[in-house]
Order: sequence, then C-alpha cells, then structure tokens
Amino acid sequence: MKILSVASECAPFVKTGGLADVAGALPPALSAEGVKMTTLLPGYPAVMAALDKGKEVRATGDLFGAPARVLAGKAAGLDLLVLDAPHFYARSGSIYLGPDGRDWPDNPERYAALCWAAMEIARDGADGWKPDLVHAHDWQGGLAPYFLKKHLPGVPSVLTIHNIAFQGLAPADRMASLRLDPGDFHAGAFEYYGKISALKAGLIYASRLTTVSPTYARELLTPEFGMGLDGVLRQRQADLSGILNGIDLDVWNPATDPAVTVYTAPSGKAPNRAALRDEFGLGEADGPLCVVISRLTEQKGLDLLLEAVPALTGRGGQLALLGTGNRSLEDAWRAAADRLPGLSVRIGYDEELSHRMMAGGDAIIIPSRFEPCGLTQLYGLRYGTIPLVALTGGLADTIIPASDAGIRAGVATGLQIHPLSADSLRDGLARLCALYSDRSVWTRMQENAMRHPVGWEVSAADYAALYGALTEA
Ligand code: ADP
Ligand code: GLC
Repeated sequence: MKILSVASECAPFVKTGGLADVAGALPPALSAEGVKMTTLLPGYPAVMAALDKGKEVRATGDLFGAPARVLAGKAAGLDLLVLDAPHFYARSGSIYLGPDGRDWPDNPERYAALCWAAMEIARDGADGWKPDLVHAHDWQGGLAPYFLKKHLPGVPSVLTIHNIAFQGLAPADRMASLRLDPGDFHAGAFEYYGKISALKAGLIYASRLTTVSPTYARELLTPEFGMGLDGVLRQRQADLSGILNGIDLDVWNPATDPAVTVYTAPSGKAPNRAALRDEFGLGEADGPLCVVISRLTEQKGLDLLLEAVPALTGRGGQLALLGTGNRSLEDAWRAAADRLPGLSVRIGYDEELSHRMMAGGDAIIIPSRFEPCGLTQLYGLRYGTIPLVALTGGLADTIIPASDAGIRAGVATGLQIHPLSADSLRDGLARLCALYSDRSVWTRMQENAMRHPVGWEVSAADYAALYGALTEA
C-alpha cells in the first residue's frame, strides 16, 4: 500500500510541536505493517537543506502565483516529496509566523498550494509514483481531501486532527486565490461563519477522520472541546476514530540517549538529576525535581500551574521549566522565578535540553486544558519521570492513576487531576510530594512507567487497517 502523507512540519527537519514528531515517526512504524508512506513537505529552507540530493520529479506551472517543482529524495530515513515553491516557503524564521510574530498573511495560500500539489501528485504521478490514499494532517492539510474529492474522487483520504484550535480561516474573498469552488461556500462545505475554513473542508470531504486519542475523539463531539466544529464532527461521528500517538523509541531511549547519562533503571536518574539541578542553578533538595517542557499557550494550563507552584516549592520540591510562546506568560514565569527559590525557568526552544530534563526530572507536570494526545507524558513514562497530568484527551488515555486502588494493585504510572484548577493542582502537587517521600511506592511507579508500552506498534497497525479498509472499498 502506498500512502502520501501531507504535513506542514516533520521531525527532524522542522518542528513547532507534536505534529512534527508524529509525521516523522509514523512512516518507519508503518513500514513494519507493509505500508509505504511518502511524506510531502513544504520546501522550507531546513527541508531543502536536508534534501541536498533531491531529484526533480514534477514541474508545476503556475502554482498559486509562481512556478514550482516537486523534488523527491530520502532524508533521515524518510521518503520525501518536497514542494519547492520559493514564493511560499523560502523564508527564514518561524514556519508559520512572520517577523512581526503574526501568521504570514498568505498562510491560506501557502498550505492550499501544498494540498493542490498533493492532489496533482495523486492524479498525475511523480516520476511514475502515485499513492493509493492521501493522509493529511491538521488545517494545513485540510484542503487535500477537498481537492481530491473535486478532481480525483477515486482516491480516498484520511484527515487527522491534531489540534482543532487551529482551523485555517480565510476571508471569503480569497476563494478564487485558493482555487475553491464558490458553489461550495455554504455551511455544508467549507463555509464557516462567513469565512473559509480549510479544516472544515477537510472534515467534510475526507473519507475518514481520525484524531490522536480515543478520549479526544469523544471530547471533540462536545461544545466544550469542539471549538465550533463539534456539530460537523457529530455529523461525521461514524467516520471519526481516535488512534493514540506513539513515540520514536530510538530517539527517546534513556538507555542510549546521547544527551544524557544513560540508564535502564530508576536509580540511574541520580547523576542526571544532579546535572539538571546544576544546569538550572537549583540547589540540593529533599522534594521532587519537577519539569515542564511545553509551548506556553492557553491550551497548556501553565497559568494555573504558576499559581500553584508554591504548593510544590513550599514542600521542598523544585520546578525547572523550558518553554516558549505567549509573551505575557513568558514574562510571568520569568518574574516568578526571580522571587521563588526552587523555581528556575528557561524561555526558548531546545531539543537537547528537553532530553536532559526528561532524564533528570523526577516528575513532569502537564496541566493542559485540552490535550489531543500529548507526547511529553509518553517521554516521561519512558524515562521514569512520573507524569502529573490533567484528566483530558490523550493524557487520560496514557496514564494509570495513582489512586489508592492503583497504588495497592502496584500498577500506577502517574497522577491525574480533575477538574483542573489552581486548587486541584495544589492538591496534586501535595500528593506528588507525599508519594515521592515513600521510596518504595515511588520506585514502583517509576518501574511501571518505564515498562509501559509507548511505541507505535498498536497504533501503526490501526492506521494500516484503516488504510486497508479504505483502499479495498
Ligand atoms: P503540542 O504538539 O501541543 O505542543 P505535544 O506534547 O504533542 O504538544 O508535543 C510537543 C513536542 O514539542 C514534544 O516533542 C516536546 O518535547 C516539544 N517541545 C515543546 N516545547 C519545547 C521547548 N521549549 N523546547 C524543546 N522541545 C519542546
Ligand atoms: C497537537 C496536540 C498534541 C498532540 C500533537 C501530535 O499539537 O496539541 O496533544 O500530541 O498534536 O498529535
């Protein structure tokens, strides 16, 4: 089976969040299932650089304003098709944002062009290669199912929702520049409150929809989590399923990780913990060294954690935070670190440091308001870094809670709090400290966590089964 994956970011080339990890890890996981996945990426500078031996396999005429071409090649073990369209992608800095920190004004066209190219590759082939199915991700891939339905209805498509908060909205007067049929500007197609929504187009026209955890698949059907698209999703409920993300077990492996002092048992965390304390300028302490590695946005609930942190530091615990995003949250965390001993903050994005934090931390805190899947709790499990999470989305599906029953049965891997608030976080942090001080209970949790399956095996088989059902039909 040949699948074309359409993604706006992909590790290890370009990454702003978990989508990149998934786009990069799914193809090798699928090859074990007999599925050959080729990934179509925008030709951002980092992607072009990775593909130095790329071969031109298609020349497109005018692609939304200028000529472009498709290059094929292999990089980091992945089969890539790269859309070399300098008028859209040859820009430095963030892939989505201009120097003013706002979305590039032509983002709708930048990703419509990617989706158009996907449709043309499926229709006309790239050097003779054609996919049996197109798998698109998030709003940036949302128009691929639409263009396929319009121009190549025989090829099925899957759209995966990684985050419904981003919906790819554009003013209605952009229909022509996005190559959309004005006849589809209605509530049953891509019209969304008087605008164009690329995500909604995908939700309507994809053959099947998936999201990245079973719990989020249910949550999406409710007004609280559906962010205005829950009605559309309820209509398509029979075609929507949740397939949990896995992680790359080679990249995230405490026994081989080149960024850390390697270990295979919880006791091996000690040198990493000491090094992490040093790195963050934190002294010795009796309580747990907690970490946060996150985008600083409303979604992640870190404003609530900021209020609750004294419940940790007041009990001898510490917190090291690495994150970037929302300016006022960055400032608030920096200011808190100035006045609160036991709290140390790094504003920025640093992949290597994130590995050292996983290895050195005792616990990782993820108080998300919503979390389609979440990957850092999975890294935490693998590194014996106990997750304290909000009971939502994929966080609910991946942690076995340290309830009295969970502890007594010896199966717990983390802590869950519900409902999420600064108060419940304070209680959660207090319980974390209490569990940490009971060495046998804590070590048992760490061992359970490190054994918990977090790879792709099960989910890759689920995707393969889904593709199989659609291509046989
Ligand atoms: P989301 O995609 O919503 O940001 P995920 O948990 O799925 O959440 O994925 C986030 C990914 O980005 C993880 O791989 C995490 O380690 C990484 N990450 C987030 N912030 C940072 C940062 N400041 N530095 C390094 N890695 C980060
Ligand atoms: C999104 C979600 C996150 C998920 C990731 C990969 O960015 O916020 O929960 O893990 O996509 O699917």
